[in-house]
Amino acid sequence: MVADKRALVTMSGVGVTLPGLPDPVEVLDDISLDVDPGEIVGIAGESGSGKSMTGRALLGLLPDGARVRGSIVVEGTDLTAAPRSAWEQVRGREISMVFQDATAALHPMLTIGSQLTEHMRRHLGLGRRAARDRAVELLDQVRIPDPARALRSYPHQFSGGMRQRIAIAIALAAEPKLLIADEPTTALDVTVQAGILQLFDRLVREMDLSILFITHDLGVLAALADRTYIFYAGRVLETGPTQDLLRDARHPYTRALLRARPEPVEGSDEPPVLQPIPGQPVTASTAPPGCPFEPRCPDRDGDCSVQRPQLVPVPPRGDRETAAGHTAACLVHAPARPRAVESAR
Ligand SMILES: Nc1ncnc2c1ncn2[C@@H]1O[C@H](COP(=O)(O)OP(=O)(O)OP(=O)(O)O)[C@@H](O)[C@H]1O
Ligand SMILES: [Mg+2]
Repeated sequence: MVADKRALVTMSGVGVTLPGLPDPVEVLDDISLDVDPGEIVGIAGESGSGKSMTGRALLGLLPDGARVRGSIVVEGTDLTAAPRSAWEQVRGREISMVFQDATAALHPMLTIGSQLTEHMRRHLGLGRRAARDRAVELLDQVRIPDPARALRSYPHQFSGGMRQRIAIAIALAAEPKLLIADEPTTALDVTVQAGILQLFDRLVREMDLSILFITHDLGVLAALADRTYIFYAGRVLETGPTQDLLRDARHPYTRALLRARPEPVEGSDEPPVLQPIPGQPVTASTAPPGCPFEPRCPDRDGDCSVQRPQLVPVPPRGDRETAAGHTAACLVHAPARPRAVESAR
């Protein structure tokens, strides 16, 4: 296929099915997303919507026996059907991930120094001395006090927030172009959370880095992400530049997420009323045939249960300009262009 020259990574129509008993389980249905160099891109959605699985698909780290549809292109190379060895080249060096339970990813019996320098020596070919110097620099960048001493310490000697920052330093050790950060601030108190968000913002400016930031918290993305994807049941229901998406959310699911919050999201008109979304989320494998959100949607109409909406540009509303790249998959609020208009063009 002809790859998009500009994007760092592009997923097109990606579906993932895992082996299961009695039947295989679909965990991603149809994910298309891209990240450009220097961008911070957000993914938000309820539990089980496929956020972490998308990160794993981009790292070639899906569970054994996973079947992948669609295409995953990294820096112009289609890796969808690539052998394990090709993915190993990508991991660490091109793309790395801070996993959802990042502190569990640190080895309890190894010093921070050996965990950090192992990546540098393997991927960057640095000698012992150079790797140590670089490790000190990285710990300093993630604001770990007394980095030289930290290198000799073990994970249990740090607080949760510090361990989180150390996990980020390890993910950055091989100087990846894309960092996938899976809920990196969820378990942290607000001040530590703010510190990590600031850190990401700074790293993107100082290093040649892009970030794919996974969260269930739209408020975090408002402050951080250039563009945002809203996930549900292994699909993208709405996407666009974050500020436009929040100010002018069109999909009833996005609006429901905004209303379910205790506080307003910066830039959004949606009143936060702490209103839980009725019903239970469905997953890619339990989604109904039409719109996956239809059973819970306040705005559904007759077609929604049978017709599968595709992502299309949202129509103009009032005197507001519609932002380029703002699309939604909703038959009611973003109807596809009428056939008559299409054929008249
Ligand atoms: N190893 C696995 N085998 C089978 N199904 C799995 C496996 N891991 C995840 N799933 C299923 O895949 C779907 C997507 O999971 P994923 O971990 O991507 O969700 P998520 O959006 O990251 O949720 P959360 O916000 O809870 O982290 C879910 O339905 C989950 O139950
Ligand atoms: Mg997850």
